Amino acid sequence: MNDSSPAALVLGARGGLPDDIAFLRAPYPRGGWRAHAGFGQLADFWLQVHASLRHEGGEVARIVDAFREQRIDAAQLQRAFVPGLDGFLQHLDQHHRIEDAAYFPRFRQLDDRLVIGFDLLEGDHQIIHQQLIATVAQARGLISALALPGDDARRAADLYAADAGKLLHLLLQHLADEEELVIPAMLKHGERTLR
Ligand SMILES: [Fe+2]
Ligand SMILES: [Fe+2]
Repeated sequence: MNDSSPAALVLGARGGLPDDIAFLRAPYPRGGWRAHAGFGQLADFWLQVHASLRHEGGEVARIVDAFREQRIDAAQLQRAFVPGLDGFLQHLDQHHRIEDAAYFPRFRQLDDRLVIGFDLLEGDHQIIHQQLIATVAQARGLISALALPGDDARRAADLYAADAGKLLHLLLQHLADEEELVIPAMLKHGERTLR
């Protein structure tokens, strides 16, 4: 995790943040966050939102996998998949918008050394958004294929799963890295500086 070249830091290529970017990770390790005196409502809310995004993304994948493995039929897939994916993508998009517009600028102001990390996270949002668009296109293909006879729907589900899997993979890395910047910064500087 110590290769800080721009190419190595791109979401999808990196396996975590290097120590110089996540410089508060060592003094504020993940295992001690909740016990820290400065751990407050905003940190708790942030982690809850991330947990629910992980959960929603995982649930949609589980539904589509059930269809791919023929444990549910097309009608059952449609009923669960459409609202599940809509909710997940809406929550994801809203969360990133609030971070980009409201919170990330405030984190950058706390300490100049945080700027590079939050620029990286904002770049992650763009990469995730591109993958979200690809996933929505595959979802549309899947929904229209559900009305067709034969194996078209299952092939469309496989195509969807490939793009949605990439999206979830990118998102999981992003959420973990973001937490290692956001929560330690809140513990060090106090949540009030972010409101
Ligand atoms: Fe984010
Ligand atoms: Fe986030």
